Amino acid sequence: VSLSRFQLRHPAGETWHLLGPGALTAAAAEIAAFLAGRTAFVVSTPRVLGLQGHRLAPLAGAAARWEVLEVPEGEEAKTLAVAEGLWRAMAARGGKRDSRVLAFGGGSVGDLAGFVAGAFLRGVGWLQVPTTLLAQVDAAIGGKTAVDLPETKNAVGLFHHPAGVVGETGLLATLPPEERRSGLVEVIKVAVAFDRNLLEQVETTLPSLLAGEEEPLAAAASRAARLKARAVEADPAEAGPRRLLNLGHTLGHALEVALGYRRLRHGEAVAYGLLFALRLAGRRDLAPGEAGRVRRLLGRLGLPPLPRLPAAEVIAAIARDKKAREGGVAWILPRRLGHVVVVEGIGDDEVREEVGAFLDDPWAEP
Ligand SMILES: NC(=O)c1ccc[n+]([C@@H]2O[C@H](COP(=O)([O-])OP(=O)(O)OC[C@H]3O[C@@H](n4cnc5c(N)ncnc54)[C@H](O)[C@@H]3O)[C@@H](O)[C@H]2O)c1
Ligand SMILES: [Zn+2]
Repeated sequence: VSLSRFQLRHPAGETWHLLGPGALTAAAAEIAAFLAGRTAFVVSTPRVLGLQGHRLAPLAGAAARWEVLEVPEGEEAKTLAVAEGLWRAMAARGGKRDSRVLAFGGGSVGDLAGFVAGAFLRGVGWLQVPTTLLAQVDAAIGGKTAVDLPETKNAVGLFHHPAGVVGETGLLATLPPEERRSGLVEVIKVAVAFDRNLLEQVETTLPSLLAGEEEPLAAAASRAARLKARAVEADPAEAGPRRLLNLGHTLGHALEVALGYRRLRHGEAVAYGLLFALRLAGRRDLAPGEAGRVRRLLGRLGLPPLPRLPAAEVIAAIARDKKAREGGVAWILPRRLGHVVVVEGIGDDEVREEVGAFLDDPWAEP
């Protein structure tokens, strides 16, 4: 597989993307130019630094100063308290308007570091070096950054596009299988939403994808990443088509909130969110055969079971979802494979009934 290179145009300019085996080496000159003469604040976690930190070492010499800032693993990094800690560390270590932030980690690190970069001194430039499949195909693309509140996921954030995104698939070699699976869910999501050929590609190569073979992973990842980039480009402010990327996320986020961001990974929660979307869609246009096909594919992932949750908590979390509008929650539902639509005005009664039935048996064919 060759390296995939594409641009994403947005209102603040353009972001370059390099994705595939050897992306870090291929991007070395661009990264060096971006860091030259600056203080680089590298935001990462102990685990990622321990496993993959050596891959960044060749870049350190390009910056005038190289300051590594460690944050907690996973969703625990996405809090205002951690963000404040970073701002204060940056201020204490001489951070300036022309400093740079480099996010080196999964989607949690990227969301946090981008938010921190976007607000520090009203915004400093940043780079994304995503180290999980999920971040390479989804989270690192599109300039959305945020931290969570206990009440709502991604509740406080901003749009702040990175200068570049380096998706080095070689970094995925140390990724635990469950994290790979979690990322594959976002690949399946974007395939169900926009590209039935990609869905077929995932179906046929699933064992190699789950096993972490770099070539099929890079092929699926680059296709998924481009689909995301195209959706973002078409709709930078998320008023229209970009919302379609939230397929599976209305219920997925509600599950994450109801579980206190524990016990299910983001991608795992989205997988259950996708199952729920299939359920609602099956009551509308989606043919039972097509819903069954996606359900079978999700079934092959070997997801952890959905923890028991009171329906009332999930429903309350759906209502609080930041995408809930005055007119009610907008659901993103497949009409057929590769084509999703926004469905508004699904009644509270139907949602309550479907959520209840879903929590009892998420895999049941409705
Ligand atoms: N901004 C967006 O548009 C967007 C889109 C999708 C998801 N997200 C966010 O992304 C987050 C999830 O990201 P994620 O799935 O990458 O999880 P994550 O960032 O929590 O990382 C998962 C785990 O993998 C470990 N890890 C990371 N890279 C590794 C590597 N190369 N080898 C070994 N271990 C490694 C981390 O230490 C962590 O424990 C969620 O907060 C979600 O809301 C944001
Ligand atoms: Zn997601």
